[in-house]
Amino acid sequence: MRAIDHLATTPWIHDHALSKRVVDAVSGGVVRFINGEILTLAESRRLVGVEYLKTLPYVDAERIGSDGKSFGGFLTLYALIHAPDVFRCGVAGSGPTDWSYYDTIYTERYMNTPAANPEGYAASELVSRAGDIGAAPLIIHGLADTNVHLKNSVAFIQALEKADKPFLFVPLPGEDHHYEGDGLATALSQSTAYSGGRWGNNSPRRNIRRPREVTAMSEGIGDRYLRETKYHPERMLGRDLDWAAKPSAYKEYPSSRRVELPAPVPRREADLHRVLLARSSVRDYSGEPLSLADLSYLLWACAGIRRVAQGYAFRTSPSAGALYPIETYAVANNVRGLEPGLYHYAVRAHALEELRLGDLRLETARAALYQGICADAAAVLVWTAVFERSKWKYEQRGYRYVFMDAGHMCENLYLVATGQGLGVCAVGALFDDELNALLGVDGVEESAIYMAAVGHPLRKGKE
Ligand SMILES: Cc1cc2nc3c(=O)[nH]c(=O)nc-3n(C[C@H](O)[C@H](O)[C@H](O)COP(=O)(O)O)c2cc1C
Repeated sequence: MRAIDHLATTPWIHDHALSKRVVDAVSGGVVRFINGEILTLAESRRLVGVEYLKTLPYVDAERIGSDGKSFGGFLTLYALIHAPDVFRCGVAGSGPTDWSYYDTIYTERYMNTPAANPEGYAASELVSRAGDIGAAPLIIHGLADTNVHLKNSVAFIQALEKADKPFLFVPLPGEDHHYEGDGLATALSQSTAYSGGRWGNNSPRRNIRRPREVTAMSEGIGDRYLRETKYHPERMLGRDLDWAAKPSAYKEYPSSRRVELPAPVPRREADLHRVLLARSSVRDYSGEPLSLADLSYLLWACAGIRRVAQGYAFRTSPSAGALYPIETYAVANNVRGLEPGLYHYAVRAHALEELRLGDLRLETARAALYQGICADAAAVLVWTAVFERSKWKYEQRGYRYVFMDAGHMCENLYLVATGQGLGVCAVGALFDDELNALLGVDGVEESAIYMAAVGHPLRKGKE
């Protein structure tokens, strides 16, 4: 491979990339200056470090970071900008961020002068690309650095601030390019704490005390998700949808026994304003069975079809893009006319599909963090998400909509149940794997995300 040849034959690369620590060598593969040329990430990523590291049994491919000082600091920032999906965190110590800031002899040996090689300098410059950074970096710089001037980190930090990108900066007072003593101790402890913070509680270093500012600045997976799935007015180019690959909005169990549900009609009319005033989460149930008619109306009210128009079957709850990623299951504990067990709501047929019979009260309560309401309620609805339905159109941003959709469905359930004199309690505290196992879904393509207990409320004084 071309770049491996470079690697073997260019002593400069050996000095400046491979002799560093392993993680640094990984980022060392990301970019190299060779006669003013920059090897792009796409060319070089496949050949060095990362791909190899990923093959090792003790390496978590999702948690690869880069840590480097001086040239390694530059490489780290470069990696976070150009390979945000590969490098999940980075510690950049005293790195150049624009080679035109750096001393002439060193840089010009490889890069020529800025006047003679404007493209090389522009392509390697990081400041103007700070807004593209993935993970929030930890930047460390000696305030008395006469080699890589502080200006490099400051210019980059200013650009990060302008782009509203999180970062952590640890200045080392009195230190030059070679940290020593207290400065070195600070740099090492801060970078250790930083990676501990980045990897969360699963980090093998979780016992290390984190300095206050690291805790405040450390970014979790949720923060990153929100940041990386933002819409930006300047980046809304759109994308052609592959209509042939559009996932079906209906899951069905053709080999299951079907239980027809009565037509979904309310037992009584309800005034919306009164319902809003009366709605509250109900956790005490009378033990009276739910009628099949009530269950039918509740299922329809949160997940049923209300109108078919222009080829779309619109449902009672709104859904982003009318993609309807949520499936509804019902655990019948005490429903008149229905054997206790687990059922799936077949939306198109407005019917239940029998998945498993038996008393599932204990199992359901256990999957809901042992919340007794799931055993006491006459029925428990469980909502799963079939993520691909949303991701087909919205990609990673689709996860946001999936959870919103489930929220709308549960609110419909709350309101309609209240109007019918029934009680509901939403349940978000659940053991995902246990609940998925109960439903028989894989937890990847389809995963349980939300539940609700339903039953007749226990009227005060009627215990
Ligand atoms: C997303 C979500 C998850 C919830 N999870 C639970 C739960 O696991 N257990 C529970 O008893 N209540 C749960 N609730 C109910 C809330 O505690 C309740 O809505 C809140 O206290 C406000 O009370 P209200 O619903 O009576 O207005 C949840 C509510 C929501 C919206």
